[in-house]
Amino acid sequence: MRVAVMGQGYVGITAATGLAVDGHQVIGVEQDGCRLAVLAAGRVPVYEPGLEELFSRAVDECGLVFRGSLLDVEGRLDAVVIAVGSPPGPGGAADLRQVENALAQVASLSPVPELIVTKTSIPPGTSAAWLARPGLAPLMRDRYVHNPEFLNQGTAIQDWREPDRVVAGLWNRELVPAVRELFAGCMSPWVVTSPTGAEMIKYMSNAYLATRISFANEMARACEAVGAQVDDVIEGMSHDTRIGRLFWRPGIGYGDSCLPKDVDALLRCADAHGFAMPLVEATRRVNQEQRGELVRRVCEAVSGVRRPRVAVLGLAYEPHSDDLRAAPSRDVIPELLSAGLEVRVWDPLIGRSAAQAQGVVDDQVHWQESFVAAVRGAHVTVVLTEYPELVNADWTALVPLLEQPRAVVDAKNCLVPEKIAVAGGRYRGFGRVSAEAEFVHRGDSPAVPAGRPGAGPARSLP
Ligand SMILES: NC(=O)c1ccc[n+]([C@@H]2O[C@H](COP(=O)([O-])OP(=O)(O)OC[C@H]3O[C@@H](n4cnc5c(N)ncnc54)[C@H](O)[C@@H]3O)[C@@H](O)[C@H]2O)c1
Repeated sequence: MRVAVMGQGYVGITAATGLAVDGHQVIGVEQDGCRLAVLAAGRVPVYEPGLEELFSRAVDECGLVFRGSLLDVEGRLDAVVIAVGSPPGPGGAADLRQVENALAQVASLSPVPELIVTKTSIPPGTSAAWLARPGLAPLMRDRYVHNPEFLNQGTAIQDWREPDRVVAGLWNRELVPAVRELFAGCMSPWVVTSPTGAEMIKYMSNAYLATRISFANEMARACEAVGAQVDDVIEGMSHDTRIGRLFWRPGIGYGDSCLPKDVDALLRCADAHGFAMPLVEATRRVNQEQRGELVRRVCEAVSGVRRPRVAVLGLAYEPHSDDLRAAPSRDVIPELLSAGLEVRVWDPLIGRSAAQAQGVVDDQVHWQESFVAAVRGAHVTVVLTEYPELVNADWTALVPLLEQPRAVVDAKNCLVPEKIAVAGGRYRGFGRVSAEAEFVHRGDSPAVPAGRPGAGPARSLP
């Protein structure tokens, strides 16, 4: 098929690359001149493991090309895939201007392509509202498919090839063979529903995933209050196949580019449709509180220290993505600065100028070229991103580089508490209580059980 993919962000580049490698003739369309120039030079403007190689193959061997506007694409198209953004607008509602502009451009083509696919996340009811617009009605009724994207940054290529499911929301069932032909390279179960059903699948999936994380954080608070190890509790619960192992580690809370904005947009959608989602409201509130809780822990650790210094290790939410759009560092760093701490920052993936350009750090922050340099002479270290070099670092050697009280605040529960304790550091994770605390709460002897020196167990979490 001859396909244009509108929007060349994380989703659009992955889709354009995957479709080209699968044998379609693909034109990637990107309106941002800087991004377009990078793509036209044969490079990928975002960091995504493995994408650069596949992208080169798509360009060099499969004929993937780029244009600055859909209106510049010459010749007839069989399909247009819309993968433009739906960023948060005022009050948290999804800003649909990019996707509505894209649809208007598609509607102005002559001839209009047979298949118009939106991958962009759009709140429930959006497609139905477009169906009601006289200018869009025939296009929506006959040619439109909502195919929400579920990829995760860091595993985008694998998620493209083998998503857990492909969702096709359409009103015209005769489109199903064409959609299957377009996504023939995706080896997954299919769910065919209405566009509104497809929108609900996307937003409810993200709301549920967000709720699991907030539930884990609420559970971590309870563990600290009663003196239980959250790692043990999660391990014990995860063996229940109805609960499972994934997506519920306590810590700083969710902060990728999708969950925060989709949860907010769902809540605004609920307001607009006049129904309540108290669970999702609570999910959002618990998540927001985690940021403040982290800052509170840092401040508590350095109380009494004159001119306290904190080393923030990692700016991104995920260790394999340079996406900073909703990263917790955006909230945490300004709060640490306004609490009067000197803030040093290290991140191996994101350069200082990129972090500054995206408004995550400013001149008040001391940028460091290595985590060792950041830690040396700081009073407290915050591990904000689960970078492998931090997880695997020799913390028994790092901790002595800190000044007293040598505190390590682990925002991802990804370090081994014993290693910090053995080196004389004070570890604070989320829901990870010391072995002594477990015994005090049980009323037993405070002696540490054999094989469990210092703080509690730290096994790899799901
Ligand atoms: N990033 C993810 O991990 C992810 C995962 C699943 C779903 N999604 C959803 O997919 C959508 C896209 O996400 P993203 O992260 O790739 O977005 P993005 O903001 O990184 O990229 C969107 C791109 O579209 C371009 N664009 C906008 N209007 C255009 C037009 N008319 N013509 C050509 N280009 C245009 C923008 O310049 C931008 O480069 C969003 O709705 C998002 O919620 C994202």
